[in-house]
Amino acid sequence: MSDSLHALHRARFLNLLAERDAVAIIPTATTKTRNDDADYLFRPTSDFWYLTGFKEPGSCLVLLPGLEGEEHRAVLFLRERDKVSETWDGRRLGLERAPDALGVDAAMDIKELWTELPKLLAGRQRIMWRFGDDDVADRRMVELFSSLRDHARGPVEPPTELLDPAPALHELRVIKSDAELDHMRRSAELAASAHSALMRHIKPGMNECEAEALLDHHYRSAGSTGAAYNHICAGGANACILHYIENDQPLKDGDLLLVDSGAEWHYYASDITRTFPVGGRFTPEQRALYQVVLDAEEAAIAVAAPGVPFDRIHEVALGVIVDGLLEHGLLKGTREEALESGSYREFFMHKTGHYLGLDVHDCGRYLTASGAPRPLEQGMVFTVEPGIYVDPENMDVDARWRGIGIRIEDDVLVTEDGHEVLTTAAPKSVAAVEAMCAAQPEPQG
Ligand code: GLY
Ligand code: MN
Ligand code: MN
Repeated sequence: MSDSLHALHRARFLNLLAERDAVAIIPTATTKTRNDDADYLFRPTSDFWYLTGFKEPGSCLVLLPGLEGEEHRAVLFLRERDKVSETWDGRRLGLERAPDALGVDAAMDIKELWTELPKLLAGRQRIMWRFGDDDVADRRMVELFSSLRDHARGPVEPPTELLDPAPALHELRVIKSDAELDHMRRSAELAASAHSALMRHIKPGMNECEAEALLDHHYRSAGSTGAAYNHICAGGANACILHYIENDQPLKDGDLLLVDSGAEWHYYASDITRTFPVGGRFTPEQRALYQVVLDAEEAAIAVAAPGVPFDRIHEVALGVIVDGLLEHGLLKGTREEALESGSYREFFMHKTGHYLGLDVHDCGRYLTASGAPRPLEQGMVFTVEPGIYVDPENMDVDARWRGIGIRIEDDVLVTEDGHEVLTTAAPKSVAAVEAMCAAQPEPQG
């Protein structure tokens, strides 16, 4: 049975293609060698998955809007079944089963993609193809385009335009349907429960790698494909490295552990950060800065609603962070001076959020066509993730603040008249975090 979610996405995109009088060719990812003859785990590209729900490598979708009142057509190129290959490398859906399983109109052998495309593209003027993902396929696309042009005869016009499908397709992806939100909620709940389990589990003397292992265990044993991105499990001053992924250092009593980790469900991402004390209790300095970040995060989430410009979220969080840094003497001067000079960037050097969906930094424009900040719309999902990071070598601040790194991150859905936080199940207030750290660990299955 085909998954109606992906059929709906295809139908929507085909309607856009019909309006633009274009066909789209959307290949999935190529496999990548990790070392010698071992590959990285394959993941389809998000665009391809969005339109097909098909996860085998060696596949390409061709979408052909109907000409002169004909029906639209979706043709999937995929690998033929092959007993020997399937014995070594895993089962294949195969051409025969693909139309029923995926709801496409026709299935063809991927080996014939480049010989069949000229026939499928006959009479089409605009072709959508995303350049830059695969050099070999890009070259073949250019060759195909020029061969169609050079061999055009009689009444059939050759194609004249090669266009990027992303602007149109990504505008569809930025607004999530209810069915997509079901997957995103599941992803968010799974990640939130993993963060809670971690707070109960971690004790001084453990290693960052044990935090990473627990997260993986949690996601995979629930049936997820795994983490949506490399986990960040950063103890102590490692939290001041924004994309710290080594995750191999011991965890000490008195330090904080910053964990940025999200699960992937049906390839939809969640993206949660929690920061908690390894020994279960915040020190006064940690608690003070934690409260500033929490206040900033909650104030920013509170303004999320349709019509609010995306960058308002950052402005609100930034105002609270700057006030807190001034109050605790980490910044000098006034709020206006700090905002004007950008001195706060020493402690808060990133923006407050990004769209979330099939990609953790999901697609979608942040500005309107005229360059103004884009207003939020119902169905958008984005993160809110302010932080404060005090470099351990910052000699301009009191020693007691050095090496503290804190970020708090939740996933927020814009609803008809406001917002819904998808990740509330992960404890966040000082009291809730300390209570969770004090709770008994779950038995590991
Ligand atoms: N985990 C990546 C990010 O928070 O943007
Ligand atoms: Mn994020
Ligand atoms: Mn994150």
